[in-house]
Amino acid sequence: MNIIWTACVALAACLLAAPVRAAEPVTFTKDVAPIVYRHCTTCHRPGEIGPFALQTYSDARQRMTLIADATTRRVMPPWKPAPAPGVFLDDRSLSDAEIQTLQDWAAQGGPEGDARDLPALPSFAQGWQLGTPDVVVTMPEAYTLRPDGPDLFRTFVLPIPASRTRYVRAIEFRPGQGRGVHHANIGVDRTRSSRRLDAADPEPGYVGGMVQDAAYPPGHLLGWTPGQQPRPSPDGMPWRLEQESDLIVQLHLQPTGKPEPIQVSVGFFFTDTPPTRTPVGLRLGSETIDIAAGQAAYDIRDSYVLPVDAEVLAVQPHAHNLGRETYAEVLLPDGTVKPLITILDWDFGWQDVYRYVRPLALPQGSTIRMRFTYDNSAANPRNPFQPPQRIVWGQNTTDEMGDLWVQLVPARTADLAQLGNDIASKTRLEDIAAYTRVLETDPKNPLRHDAVAMLYLQDGRPQEAVPHFRASLRLNNDSAPTHYNLGLALSMLRQYPEATREYEAAVRMDPNHAEAHNNLGAMLHVAGRLDDAVPHYRRAFELRPENTEAHSNLGRLFLLQGKAAEAATQFEQALAVQPDAVSALTGLAWIRATSSDAPLRRPGQAVALAERARQLSRGQDPQAFDALAAAYAALGEFEQAARAGVAGIQVALASGQQLLAAEMRDRVLLYEQRKAFLR
Ligand code: HEC
Repeated sequence: MNIIWTACVALAACLLAAPVRAAEPVTFTKDVAPIVYRHCTTCHRPGEIGPFALQTYSDARQRMTLIADATTRRVMPPWKPAPAPGVFLDDRSLSDAEIQTLQDWAAQGGPEGDARDLPALPSFAQGWQLGTPDVVVTMPEAYTLRPDGPDLFRTFVLPIPASRTRYVRAIEFRPGQGRGVHHANIGVDRTRSSRRLDAADPEPGYVGGMVQDAAYPPGHLLGWTPGQQPRPSPDGMPWRLEQESDLIVQLHLQPTGKPEPIQVSVGFFFTDTPPTRTPVGLRLGSETIDIAAGQAAYDIRDSYVLPVDAEVLAVQPHAHNLGRETYAEVLLPDGTVKPLITILDWDFGWQDVYRYVRPLALPQGSTIRMRFTYDNSAANPRNPFQPPQRIVWGQNTTDEMGDLWVQLVPARTADLAQLGNDIASKTRLEDIAAYTRVLETDPKNPLRHDAVAMLYLQDGRPQEAVPHFRASLRLNNDSAPTHYNLGLALSMLRQYPEATREYEAAVRMDPNHAEAHNNLGAMLHVAGRLDDAVPHYRRAFELRPENTEAHSNLGRLFLLQGKAAEAATQFEQALAVQPDAVSALTGLAWIRATSSDAPLRRPGQAVALAERARQLSRGQDPQAFDALAAAYAALGEFEQAARAGVAGIQVALASGQQLLAAEMRDRVLLYEQRKAFLR
């Protein structure tokens, strides 16, 4: 009895020892090779990540027991979600029947079979899989991965040469010549935060993960794992790549026994067609993880109720080494529950973006909910600390994280802003809480102060942002982006002289900061220093020709100076770049309606321009009504003019623009006396 008991302690051994069904003989050439070539050879061939090749009979025969065991335990092929056939794209898992075949083959002693049955070895495309990329960015210098020691996490900055905004249809990642790249997360940084960290580290790249300023393109999940087919974005969903962005590639590197030159490339495939559908990334999870040493089952939970109808396209769970189970589902308003993803044996080494074959359509009111479980006991073989230590939330791999990213697309484009804002405010509040906690233990870190300050700014709380920006400046000495952002916060607080000083510092440190020039111009403009403002507006659109705001601002300044012709030129230039620029439409309409200079006055055109501005601003811009009223009056249609004027006064009052409302009231009195308003 005893002997049988000990023999069966190992589950795999029991399975293999179980009596084999009286089945057809299973051979390598007929039964096993098709499975191995389809599911294993992508990684198990020379130069790829698998530790040995699986290409020939002898390759497989030598390891038949190991293969049967690894596939039965579903350790190989690496695919973490619990079996859900047909649910995910690029599902690597084997079917139960395929696993049985591998087991039967090993149990029968691994016969080779008839050579004529052997399928051709799969050929793997050598070059780019998606065709020739429009742009290829490569790590400027190779990083040398040391031959041994623990895994490494390093982030590299790849500047993208794009002279204008582009739409990215697909990217393709290539790990390069050196082996050892285990997986990659890919983001974009428009600030220079990642570059600064790179510069501070003597070797290429820097230690650790992406900073707050580097992120997935909004609504997209970008990553790479070995053997993965590159996949273009779904139809109509390219992502916007702003010029002067850096591509940020965070690599999980595994020493291979010899030094490896790591030099990855990413190919970009552009399209000129802007997106027709825009996804939104929802993050569920916790940033207050705090797991006692030895705690074997620690749960985090989070949920989100959809404010609009939406589709789920993909999910990506993320945890570090203590993660054990990741689970997510949707509770529909009618009470039914739909599973999203279940991973029962979380493995930090094999994380992926999981895309649904068929997007899940969810009605408004659906609750997306998640639960992750962590094991901080000594029994967890992946626990990086023996004996275990208390572990809290943080972005280092020895800290813990718990995020479930969900890629959502609203069913109706009109709902995009609502969904985006709703999710952004949920995320911001969590981030503010998390970063505030981190600052308590790391109060001298200027990047953390910057990050919290930006969150407060985005949350519409400039008064709370200001002290953190000031702390960052004190600790960091100086940086143009921080001065600029502090300027923004101060101008939101209407502290114009202080804001002016910050914008001045920003343009002094970075004379090519277009937005800082525009905003400095605006500060000088409101202070009545019109002549000082002009060169800053000009510099702003020289630096960034698509900066229509600077043109419109300069137009308004010229209007103040009574230079209607110059003003009209500025508005026209703005509209040439961006035909929907509301501020330029109302400005030009105003001149066309009210100029006392006859060649400039074209009331018919003024009506069209102002009407367009009114529609684009959804009736929320009082100046559009003001221009419309003036245009009707110039055409002699005084009743219409008075009606538009009165409607505009209400909008002005509702938005607190008392002064404008008073001026508009005077003009309505003119229209009621059947007089036009001329300047
Ligand atoms: C996506 C890449 C990939 C695919 C596909 C893949 N493997 Fe692996 N395999 C690896 C890597 C990497 C390792 C090394 C261990 C690790 O990192 O998990 C490995 C290890 C193994 C091992 C050793 C396991 C152990 O416990 O030591 C076996 C056996 C194996 N693979 C068999 C297979 C078989 C059979 C298939 C196909 C049915 C397959 N692999 C598909 C990447 C892959």
